Amino acid sequence: MPDLDTIVRDIAEEMRARPDRGEVARYIPELAGVDPQAFGLVVIDGDGRAAVGGDADIPFSIQSISKVFTLTLALGMVGDRLWRRVGREPSGSPFNSIVQLERENGIPRNPFINAGAIAVTDVILSGHQPREALGEILRFMQFLAQDNGIAIDEKVAASEKRTGFRNAALANYMRSFGVIENPVDYTLGVYFHHCAIAMSCRQLATAGLYLAYSGLHPLAGHTVISAERARRINAIMLTCGHYDGSGDFAYRVGLPGKSGVGGGILAVAPGKASICVWSPGLDAAGNSHLGRIALEMLVKRTGWSIF
Ligand code: DON
Repeated sequence: MPDLDTIVRDIAEEMRARPDRGEVARYIPELAGVDPQAFGLVVIDGDGRAAVGGDADIPFSIQSISKVFTLTLALGMVGDRLWRRVGREPSGSPFNSIVQLERENGIPRNPFINAGAIAVTDVILSGHQPREALGEILRFMQFLAQDNGIAIDEKVAASEKRTGFRNAALANYMRSFGVIENPVDYTLGVYFHHCAIAMSCRQLATAGLYLAYSGLHPLAGHTVISAERARRINAIMLTCGHYDGSGDFAYRVGLPGKSGVGGGILAVAPGKASICVWSPGLDAAGNSHLGRIALEMLVKRTGWSIF
């Protein structure tokens, strides 16, 4: 097998040249201007050895990838009580779908669809000022990425706040069932801001290491969560991390993964590596088009699928 550096470089070169790049997200106006030609891929192992291709160090909007980390934080705060407010079944619906909420008493299907992530954010917010909750999330990201320079892109946050009518509908609807407990504006404010955190592939791949190594972050030298909890978060990433594209992602890639509409995907090869790919163009389900293809190639060449 060729070495990882060669594989990652080959994939980045091939992806750069492909004409089919998907569509950049336009419903958040600030994201519409991102260059669809961008492509980055970073694979990092437990010794901190990184194989790097393309735009590995350009920060992009992590969007829904943040939901993996807010889920981790919320489980740390309230443990399994979280599952009274959020389910853990795949939704089979788009990430911003409203329809299931009415049939299921305001309980979102899982923590990765927008409704579920907003409910998780509400748990983190409980008893704090929005600024404190956000600071907590940001410091957690900086710690996991081993980089204090990580910041929120305020323009993206403001852009989403201005146009986030659907998320406001989801949050208000959940509030009517008591699934959201804080003022809706506070919860949404924190949610929009954590989605607007900007990180590079290298930073995100580093941040994901604890999921690849049974809860232990090998570079930070800390146990972030128990092995059992890491296994469970990975399971939810596999079954729900790509919304109504989760089955196809499992079929083609076979790794726990979480996508974001900024075009990033964080993927976990348990015991082997943490991986982040970025290509801003999305497929019909709102997941990175070339990001998925790149991961499929990586898994073929490394044999890292969990199946
Ligand atoms: O709430 C939203 O719509 C965005 N902040 C996040 C959505 C997202 O990233 C979906 N992922 N593919």
